Amino acid sequence: MNKIQSEAPWSPESWRAKPACQLPSYPDAARLAEVEARLRRYPPLVFAGEARRLRAALAKAAEGRAFVLQGGDCAESFADFTANIIRDTFRVLLQMAVVLTFGARVPVVKLGRMAGQFAKPRSAETETQDGVTLPSYRGDMINGPEFTEEARTPDPTRMETGYFQSAGTLNLLRAFASGGYADLHEVHRWNLDFVSRSPLVARYQDLAARIDETLGFMAACGMTSETTPQIRETDFYTSHEALLLPYEQALTRIDSTTGDWYACSAHFLWIGDRTRQPDGAHVEFLRGVKNPIGIKLGPSTEIDSLLRLMDILNPQAIPGRLTLISRMGAERVLEKLPPLVRAVKRDGRPVVWVCDPMHGNTITTKARIKTRRFDAILSEVRGFFDVHAAEGTWAGGVHVEMTGRNVTECIGGAYHLTEADLSTRYETFCDPRLNAEQSLELAFLLAEELKERRANGEFNMMAAQ
Ligand code: PEP
Ligand code: CO
Repeated sequence: MNKIQSEAPWSPESWRAKPACQLPSYPDAARLAEVEARLRRYPPLVFAGEARRLRAALAKAAEGRAFVLQGGDCAESFADFTANIIRDTFRVLLQMAVVLTFGARVPVVKLGRMAGQFAKPRSAETETQDGVTLPSYRGDMINGPEFTEEARTPDPTRMETGYFQSAGTLNLLRAFASGGYADLHEVHRWNLDFVSRSPLVARYQDLAARIDETLGFMAACGMTSETTPQIRETDFYTSHEALLLPYEQALTRIDSTTGDWYACSAHFLWIGDRTRQPDGAHVEFLRGVKNPIGIKLGPSTEIDSLLRLMDILNPQAIPGRLTLISRMGAERVLEKLPPLVRAVKRDGRPVVWVCDPMHGNTITTKARIKTRRFDAILSEVRGFFDVHAAEGTWAGGVHVEMTGRNVTECIGGAYHLTEADLSTRYETFCDPRLNAEQSLELAFLLAEELKERRANGEFNMMAAQ
């Protein structure tokens, strides 16, 4: 049965015959068809060769020879489309990556939740305010956040705006990644700056000083920005949830060098926890494209269904093809994750295990603000490390919702943000994000933790160089 499903004919539109959750219903079908036709003619945003390079990098993470850092907004927005916002998020991701590279002592695969993260699954179809009920906001690529009938009606032309914004964002990211902005020395200098300002300076300065020494040693050996492109440039990839299938289909292209289909809206796409039904439309769509893909696994994940997903999505056991992103919540990770890790290990097909410590730890305050506690986020990642250390598998990465801005959306961290602070700069269009300081703090704490665990002999069977 599984075999049949993975071998059934596939086309970019075969998902249309399957039950689809979380898709908007567009009132004007003709307008939708026009936008889809235009998108089909536009150039792809990424090139298949790049997706293959990412798959190879993820294959290393599956073997324990790389660590994945995936991060960015919960939802990008049309209103927040500026160079500074893109730059700041990119910069913090690079800073985190340097710190984690040092802690994990392996290359870090950098994946932005950027340049296409515009469509959101929602738990409720509708929202009611003061007795008025309207469709829920589903992300800027689908409808608008304002509570009016006009804004909340799904509008297909938003897909086109999302495409152009993704192109602009990706263009700047590529320029930053290869144009000198991502120079390792520069990134480390920003980290030193962060450490000197942090209330936890005493805790971080040891790690920062060691990175400093290492860079100095490398320079003395002749490895400088001028001589070594790896110091001057970086590989940065884009990712988003493959939720809005009409958009994804329109950007799916045949790669002329291999004849394979690739989703060309981003390098990496994932299936959300709400749309991972093995017989559903989202799984059907991703089955046929050759990009590396992810699946979010929440606490309701059953072993059988996970194994079926692996049969359908990676029948040939291609290393780097599949990343499993667990988001169990700090309280449940020790109970829910081990049976899945064991089942996957028994199955034998390679996967990358990544921890999303955000989506299982969302709480609502008395003032009805959605937030997350920094401690719970840290604790879920630690639990994730514990599980993998115990099972003899590699804790392959983290997936975070963050921004380079100094927002106040998550509670805690070195600056002790409280519930009362949340209203100061609460800017997210969807879930609460770690701000720049909290993101870096998380990276430093995780790097320390990984270093210690490696020193104690944990994870060494994988990442030994
Ligand atoms: C998300 O990543 O923003 C998201 C909705 O996650 P999940 O599917 O894990 O709930
Ligand atoms: Co989110």
